[in-house]
Amino acid sequence: MALRTWTGEFAGGTIATGMARLNARHPWSHNDHFHSWILANLPARRRGALDVGCGRGELVAALSPRFASVRGNDRDEEMRRHATARCTGLANVTIDGRSWSDATGPIDLVTMVAVLHHLDVAAALADVRRLLKPGGRFLAVGLAPPRSATDHLWDLASAVTNPMIGYVKHPWPSSDGAPVTPVPIKDPTMPFDELREIVLDVMPGASIRRRLGFRHTIAWTKPS
Ligand SMILES: C[S@@+](CC[C@H](N)C(=O)[O-])C[C@H]1O[C@@H](n2cnc3c(N)ncnc32)[C@H](O)[C@@H]1O
Repeated sequence: MALRTWTGEFAGGTIATGMARLNARHPWSHNDHFHSWILANLPARRRGALDVGCGRGELVAALSPRFASVRGNDRDEEMRRHATARCTGLANVTIDGRSWSDATGPIDLVTMVAVLHHLDVAAALADVRRLLKPGGRFLAVGLAPPRSATDHLWDLASAVTNPMIGYVKHPWPSSDGAPVTPVPIKDPTMPFDELREIVLDVMPGASIRRRLGFRHTIAWTKPS
């Protein structure tokens, strides 16, 4: 039985219910949390950036002052509306829903936060490799279902640290604020070990690491 399932059912589910309540009182975005990692790892050359599956456009807005131009792409119309509103007044930002793999122009950064598992992984990585200019970088934050013993240990560590990080980021218990439009989600199906093989096959030398927050990160710089 998967550790996630087992902990969910342990003690009649009371621990899992308590943890869920705690997390709801001190919420944090597991995706936005990694924006600081992305911003700390930007490529030296910063002409164009492409955020695939940009959702509400938070990362696009954060990249805007750092690149000559930033394109946020999302196939969901409502997300594009939110992203466009979020980036109002940012003259170097465009938001669109066209096929991102047809992008042209100098792309020095491609980002995907919680998006790769929505795509055909091998094809998407090959498209990123083709689109990036030499020296350009791919930075992704992803999700994978736990399969191996190591996956389960990271899952447990993420579950235990989740409310602690929530307390630090959001010390005051959440009151019911304005409802936030949820981003379109999909359950990941490709386990970390399988993903790593594909990543290293398409992007030799890439760094792929498990992280707390039920996430992993991928970083690759296209050779010059
Ligand atoms: C889990 S959300 C993450 C959104 C955002 N990156 C974030 O961190 O909040 C996944 C996003 O990918 C978008 N998406 C899924 N497949 C896509 C595709 N083929 N092209 C562009 N966007 C896609 C969805 O519409 C959704 O907004």
